[in-house]
Amino acid sequence: MFRYIALAFGALQLASAATVLTGQYTCDTAGDYTLCNDQWGIANGVGNQTSTLISASGDTISWSTNYTWANNENDVKTYANVLSNTANGVQIGSISSFPTAWTWDYETESSDLRADVSYDMWTGTAESGTAASSSSSYEIMIWLSGKGGIQPVGSLQTSGISLAGYTWNLWSGTTETWTTMSFVSADGDITSFSTDLTPFFQYLVDNQGVSSSQYIQAIQTGTEAFTGTANLVTSSFSVSLS
Ligand SMILES: *[C@@H]1O[C@H](CO)[C@@H](O)[C@H](O)[C@H]1NC(C)=O
Ligand SMILES: *[C@@H]1O[C@H](CO)[C@@H](O)[C@H](O)[C@H]1NC(C)=O
Repeated sequence: MFRYIALAFGALQLASAATVLTGQYTCDTAGDYTLCNDQWGIANGVGNQTSTLISASGDTISWSTNYTWANNENDVKTYANVLSNTANGVQIGSISSFPTAWTWDYETESSDLRADVSYDMWTGTAESGTAASSSSSYEIMIWLSGKGGIQPVGSLQTSGISLAGYTWNLWSGTTETWTTMSFVSADGDITSFSTDLTPFFQYLVDNQGVSSSQYIQAIQTGTEAFTGTANLVTSSFSVSLS
């Protein structure tokens, strides 16, 4: 009897334990994902950030991030994100299924917040490749939110694109060795997004010269923080690709 109670108590503790990541590049793997407290741009700012793994099972994950950043309001400080360890290695022209669902909100946010909430997806000519690496041909972003007047890389290409039941503005520009294409919501914050992502990629094949033989190498989703203070909670995120 005593032993039974001890085991049950242990299981309860496990279920309620959240992992808090504090380091500049600290990550934790859970379910199909790697959550990273990625603070790649903090040389340009002052502040701090943590990311918290709330729960994960299979292709569904819940997590949050708390941050406060100041200085250089046009520079990204961080990209707290989850990387899917399974949704990769499929050519755009061979996608059969690409469902995703993301429900998020700002539990707290400062009035001067400058940040996006975004998909950051990487394609290249090889079947596999690391995000933001020499194997990246394209960085394809979908901004579900952009606060404080921030802009994506490059310049506005096309306004008023209808995809997934929303209207988007497409931005494009080249940095490092890859081209960044960003679909930015023209409908304000989309806090509960559920769709198949294939039409976003097909749009780029049909209208922006992206080859359908490009492989989707990495899918990250998270938040680029420029300046301000926020607690962003993803209550549920999932993506799968086949
Ligand atoms: C994070 O930065 C804020 C603003 O500078 C500060 O008030 C807070 O104490 C810092 N937190 C940590 C854990 O360093
Ligand atoms: C994040 O911010 C929320 C809201 O202010 C707070 O309740 C929570 O304790 C914070 N979490 C961490 C890990 O700092």
